[in-house]
Order: sequence, then structure tokens, then C-alpha cells
Amino acid sequence: MGNITVIGSQWGDEGKGKIVDWLAAEADVVVRFQGGHNAGHTLVVGETTYKLHLLPSGVVRGKLSVIGNGVVVDPWALLKEIERLTGQGLTITPENLIVSESATLILPVNASLDKALEEARGNAKIGTTGRGIGPAYEDTVGRRAIRMCDLAHPETLKAKVEKLAFYYNALYKGLNASPFNVDELVGQLQEVAPKILPHVAPAWRVLDDAKTAKKTVLFEGAQGVMLDVNHGTYPYVTSSNTIAAQAAIGAGVGADQMGYVLGITKAYSTRVGSGPFPTELFDAVGDTLTERGHEFGTTTGRRRRCGWFDAVQVKQAVKICGIKGIALMKLDVMDTLSEVSICTGYTANGKHYDYIPASEDLQAQLKPVYETMPGWQTPLRGVKKLSDLPSKALKYIHRLEELTGVEAVIISTSPERDDTIRVKEILG
Ligand code: IMP
Repeated sequence: MGNITVIGSQWGDEGKGKIVDWLAAEADVVVRFQGGHNAGHTLVVGETTYKLHLLPSGVVRGKLSVIGNGVVVDPWALLKEIERLTGQGLTITPENLIVSESATLILPVNASLDKALEEARGNAKIGTTGRGIGPAYEDTVGRRAIRMCDLAHPETLKAKVEKLAFYYNALYKGLNASPFNVDELVGQLQEVAPKILPHVAPAWRVLDDAKTAKKTVLFEGAQGVMLDVNHGTYPYVTSSNTIAAQAAIGAGVGADQMGYVLGITKAYSTRVGSGPFPTELFDAVGDTLTERGHEFGTTTGRRRRCGWFDAVQVKQAVKICGIKGIALMKLDVMDTLSEVSICTGYTANGKHYDYIPASEDLQAQLKPVYETMPGWQTPLRGVKKLSDLPSKALKYIHRLEELTGVEAVIISTSPERDDTIRVKEILG
């Protein structure tokens, strides 16, 4: 099998965990390349449910798992997650979990600032996960971040934290918050360092060695294309690039190493947090999708907003990421609907749009144009063969393919690992 890059083609929560876990069986290495513990990947294996936030899904299969330089890492959250999953019977050691030496740390100061800024935004909240993701990425770009490699140099750590304090205390003053204590943070970092450092390595070299040894690498994206800091519904986005090209940057491999780009795509749309969502439903159909799809966030428990499939949005993601095929998820959630709709365009200010324009103001005004077809009203849960799908469900899938311009190469019919239709071989 060649390399594969898996990304969410909507607003996150498409079901990447299940597919990454399924593909990981055939990969040698699984790499996270952006985001942090704002992500939530759920994997159901038999009776056991694993909830991952920061660890690559490869840990469940015992594969070499790499947290790349593009990820922001809260070391305390990472240790807690390792402890929780070890308690569920997984083996996670410095041999099978590598953290990039240049990954930025998320510090307590980042999380408290994330929450304070959200509070200060009043009605214009982004709805962040409050994990400090944004402020940590700001620290990277602001060239004041504390990085994994710094933990190995206690002699210079205090000077680096002082540089950080200089910046944060100016902000805190403006927010009327108390200044942060440099010695306390240095102490916390020194305490956590020996627990994390055994995992820390030049991840790019580990991946280069994997390439030389002709190993297969799976790049595991978090969030979704529409939450990309440049290509998403800005400013209602996360702080990293979530598009496929980030796999190369956030892992430290050549752009030619990304392999097949698979877009994980829910059969309908969901979004957590604020921001434009043209196909959002506020009626009984929306409630059905939320309830049947268990649409509550893995990380924050927040109720997800639900709506019809937006083919314009997914097509845009296909183009921006070079998606070769989609894995269509949660089709079974729509089983009871008498009619199903697909968004094929928008209108705003009397104009027709066949793409999502960048302007926040325009995005807020987009009114969806729908195509509607009869629902299949047949239970699909657990179907494992394409030929066992009812013709109305097949018609829905074919229309999504036509409108987005890519094939559904995988179709998922339940959260279970084995309830997956392999339509086309993508790993060969
Ligand atoms: P942040 O990533 O915590 O800064 O949050 C920014 C926006 O991204 C908010 O709307 C979050 O709800 C959303 N977000 C962050 N991570 C995820 C995810 O894994 N799934 C879905 N939405 C997410």
C-alpha cells in the first residue's frame, strides 16, 4: 500500500477516527500533523470505545505513532491520555510513540488566555474548545513558544519562560487578570520533562527512515477543511491549516509523500461552535440527525449543529485538498427520513454562488438551493456490501459523487470497525 492522507472534508467530526483505525491495520506508521487536543476521534473496537484527542489513532493498533511538528501539545493532557488508554489495555512506550522535538507546547497560560478571550468576545464568540490551541499557535508564529526540545535544556528554560511572561503579562494587564508566575511554570515544566522527553525525537528523521525502509505512512488529519485558518469560514475557524497540504509541513516530509488523499465526509453536515453553516436545519429533521447520529462533541460534549449535505462546500474541499476519493460516513443515520436534500448552490444578495466566498458577511447571507429526493427508509446499519444497499440510497450516493466530482470509495454503515463497504481498492 502507498501512503495515505486522511482529512475531514467538512467542519470536523466526520468520523475520521474509525477510518484511520481501519486503514491503520495496513499502515506501518500513523502521523498527526496539525491541531492539538481540541480534536476528538472515537474508535469502537468490539465492546471497547477508545476516545483519542492528541494521540494518533495508530496507538490502538500498536503501530508506530508520530506527533509531528505541526501539532501543539499539552504535555499534561498527553500524559493523561496515555495513562487512560494504557488503563484500557493499550501499550504506549517511547518505542511506539514519537513526539517531534520542534512541536510547540500548550501551556496553562494558553488555555486560560483562550478562555479569557472567548469571554471578552461577548456575542461574537468563536466557540473554541478552550484548550489553548489558538494562543499556542500564536506563540509559535510570535517566535516565543516553548517547544519540546526546550524541555531538555533546563539551563535556558527560565529565560524562555521570561520572554513569554513579558508578552502575556502585557495582555493580562489589559484583561485585568493577575500576572503569571514564571517560577511556577518553570517548576511545572521541569516536573513534566522527564516523563515526556523519552518520546521526543526529530520526527522528520523517523519518517525519513520509514521512507527509506519503504514503510507505509498514514497521515491523520484533525478537524475539517472548513475550519482551516486560511481556507475555512474565517474567523470561525481553528488556528491550524487542516487541509491536506499541511500533512507535509506538519510532519516534515516532502510534498510527494502524502500519497492518496482521502476526504472523510459525513452523509449530512455538522458543525460545533459558531460560524456560518448554510444548510443548518432548525426543525425535526435536524433533531433526528442530532439524536440518531449522537451528534455531541467528543471533546467538549457540546451539541453539534446539523444540516443537509452541502455538495458545494465538499466540492470546494475536494479542489483545495486534491481529494481523490471520499469515505462516506454515517449514511445509516439518515435511514428514517422520508426525503433527503442536497445543497447544490447558494443565493445571496440576488446573486447565485457555486462556491463559498471568503467574506464573512457574505457567508452569513448564503441561502442554500436544494435538490430533494426520496429517502430510502430502510435500515442500513451494518450493511457490508454495495449490492445490499437499497436503490434510493445508491441514487443519493451517486448524486453526491456527481456533484462533488469524486467517488465514494468507502461507505460506513455504523461506528463498528467492520461495518464498512470497501467500494474501491485505494490501498493497492
Ligand atoms: P479551537 O480549535 O479550540 O481554537 O476552536 C476553534 C473552532 O474549531 C471552534 O468552532 C471549535 O468548535 C472547532 N473545532 C476545534 N476542534 C474541532 C474538532 O475536532 N471537531 C470539530 N470542531 C472543532
